[in-house]
Amino acid sequence: MRDTFFVTTPIYYVNDVPHIGHAYTTIAADILARYNRLKGKKVFFLTGTDEHGQKVAKAAQEKGMTPKAHADAMVENYRKMWETLFIRPDAFIRTTDREHIEIVQAMLQNLFDRGEIIKRLYAGWYCVHDERFWTEKEVENGRCPDCKRPVEHISEENYFFLMSRYQERIVKHIEANPSFILPETRRNEVLGFLKNNQLGDLCISRPRQRLSWGIPLPFDQNFVTYVWFDALLNYYSATQYLAPSLERLSDTQRGGAEAASGAPAPHLNDWWPPDHHLIGKDILTTHAIYWSAMLMALEMPLPNNIFAHGWWTVEGRKMSKSFGNVVDPGNIAETFGADAFRYFLFREVPFGLDGDFSEQALIKRFNTDLANDLGNLLSRTITMIEKYFGGTIPDASGDVPANDLPGTRALRDKAESIYPLFDRALGTLSFGNAIDSVWDVIDDANKLIEDEAPWNLWKQREMARLSKVLYSLAEVLRISALFLYPFMPTTAGRMWGQLGVSGDLSTANLQREIVWGGLRPGTTVSKGPALFPRISGEKKSAKDPLS
Ligand code: MSP
Repeated sequence: MRDTFFVTTPIYYVNDVPHIGHAYTTIAADILARYNRLKGKKVFFLTGTDEHGQKVAKAAQEKGMTPKAHADAMVENYRKMWETLFIRPDAFIRTTDREHIEIVQAMLQNLFDRGEIIKRLYAGWYCVHDERFWTEKEVENGRCPDCKRPVEHISEENYFFLMSRYQERIVKHIEANPSFILPETRRNEVLGFLKNNQLGDLCISRPRQRLSWGIPLPFDQNFVTYVWFDALLNYYSATQYLAPSLERLSDTQRGGAEAASGAPAPHLNDWWPPDHHLIGKDILTTHAIYWSAMLMALEMPLPNNIFAHGWWTVEGRKMSKSFGNVVDPGNIAETFGADAFRYFLFREVPFGLDGDFSEQALIKRFNTDLANDLGNLLSRTITMIEKYFGGTIPDASGDVPANDLPGTRALRDKAESIYPLFDRALGTLSFGNAIDSVWDVIDDANKLIEDEAPWNLWKQREMARLSKVLYSLAEVLRISALFLYPFMPTTAGRMWGQLGVSGDLSTANLQREIVWGGLRPGTTVSKGPALFPRISGEKKSAKDPLS
């Protein structure tokens, strides 16, 4: 088994402030990164910003700033937002980093020297907004088929990456690797496209007089690099100067034939290839086709998986500045807490499908799942341990025949079954199923309270049985916190804190901690504030005598 785990997000344009769409992918990567660290893997979680190109140049110009000064200011919005949302990337790449620029230029030179990039006259319809050419057939009444803005007719010389050469190989690669593109519907879309269309070559240059904000082509200073060609290479360049160091660096030149002129070939270390490129469905073509062709031309291994998630609408409408309904994750985190927001995003909608965001839906999840199911379970358990056992974890080894307490035995079995279920679910990025595997146990723990009615056991002085019940509840909570940690890191830490568990979840060892019985009798618990104080608007459950 590989002991490294490399996950990436798209790099975000600095012409915009972070919104729910950016947060979604980046939290997904954070969840996977945290979980794989718990499993003991060496993790590289990469995110960053895409700072070249027309869109960014235009945004800077509108503010009367140079593109670089504008990028420097905007990048901070992303860094701060990730902190607010408890997102902890290992590296934050900026495509204006000197190292990135040098690597992109070296790769361009390599491809040029090996005849993978050629100069050609090109005439066609150009969309300034999308920074791409469209064919006569594609243009719709003089407008861009994608953004619907008017296109311009342009005739000029440009450099082309001979992407069409790779069409067959990409199809074969997708067919031979069922999990290369996920979900399956997206994989089929890409395959369908590649089988029914003739792939063109990719124009990878922009004349400098039209756009100067880009990486100069190393072999022709009159041109800068097309922003996507520069941006996609971030996944590789980051492994060269931003990745955590590995003790066992193989650092061999595994890929990339040395160019005749001596232009550097890709230099691969043990981080390559990435385990997951997480992206939104709108940028699947650039990743599945452009990026695959680029890697093939560079003779580099392809990523193991590209996962295209769905889009969020807001209260049934497309999210857009003109509707004024752009969801600011900072506001949501401030009102409901970053953990609740993280939980909601991955509990509400299967990753891969489109979803709808509304505060109402979030409040419902908050009150039902978080305040009731989880928060109450913790507070009732701690309250009962304080009330019946003076605040220390009881000893469950008391003399109660096992078959007298099928509930606690079943609960233990359930808790021990979380790991395989959770692991399989996160392995396929089924975040919702992973959460379900934990909630199943939380539901059963709540049922155990109803079935055993510990307050009656106390009245009847059935102390051995009461000990077993309360120990089981506390132990379920300790183990659940481990699996909730990737989703809700702060909440999980508070759960451990209240249960008196010492240690830091960010450095916990999953294999050791999941063993039943880890909670030592005699440990002092300490009740803290409610994990998720109910949000008013819904009535409090009346039948709970302890909450
Ligand atoms: N810079 C490129 C990516 C280059 S990667 C080598 C880019 N940047 S972006 O700032 O526009 O960010 C786009 C990301 O945000 C995409 O993954 C996109 O799918 C995601 N989202 C934008 N709006 C979204 C929603 N409403 N819902 C979910 N994700 C959305 O594209």
